[in-house]
Amino acid sequence: MENPKLIFLFISLLSIIPWPSQSSSNSTCLETVNEIRFTYYVQDKTLGDGQSVYAVARSIITDQVPSGFGAVYVVDVLVTYGPEITSKKLGRIQGVTVSSDLREVALETILNLVITEGEWKGSTLSIFGRNPLYDEVREVSIVGGTGAFNLAWGYATTSTYYVNKYGTRAVYKYDVVVYNTTFAL
Ligand SMILES: *[C@@H]1O[C@H](CO)[C@@H](O)[C@H](O)[C@H]1NC(C)=O
Ligand SMILES: *[C@@H]1O[C@H](CO)[C@@H](O)[C@H](O)[C@H]1NC(C)=O
Repeated sequence: MENPKLIFLFISLLSIIPWPSQSSSNSTCLETVNEIRFTYYVQDKTLGDGQSVYAVARSIITDQVPSGFGAVYVVDVLVTYGPEITSKKLGRIQGVTVSSDLREVALETILNLVITEGEWKGSTLSIFGRNPLYDEVREVSIVGGTGAFNLAWGYATTSTYYVNKYGTRAVYKYDVVVYNTTFAL
């Protein structure tokens, strides 16, 4: 922009663009009501009776790279309060995971915890984040929720509790911290 006339025009335009004014409205204040912590276990089965994880798509290099880049899975997996498959049921994990790292095994997870039992029955928590499966401890975001978790936000720390020798059955532990919030207007 070397032409002085153009520079002048640009500055003039800037001055007529309406900027958000801070004084015209009262600010909305976020109030944290309470912190909720709980643990659940995800009972993955990728083969056989009760299979709950299905590969639905892959890229042309999925088989050529150790990270399995490009593999897409759809899941609808049992979630329990304890590590055993027979432990008290909490609900299901439903959604999509995508192998999205060219170098290491790391899943992009787009999941909903659908609570089907107990005091939070009918509520959901939306989980989003990168999950490098072979790290001992991973962290994913909780980006929202519905029902009892309306306006919730937080994170979950996850680790692999058990994998069988064929890799067809796995149990993942999730420690959830969520903040239940309201807005004071
Ligand atoms: C801001 O809040 C005050 C007190 O609640 C109220 O009287 C006023 O109308 C509000 N102003 C705006 C722009 O909403
Ligand atoms: C969050 O707070 C709202 C309003 O106080 C309440 O109705 C809801 O049950 C709370 N959720 C949880 C999970 O405690």
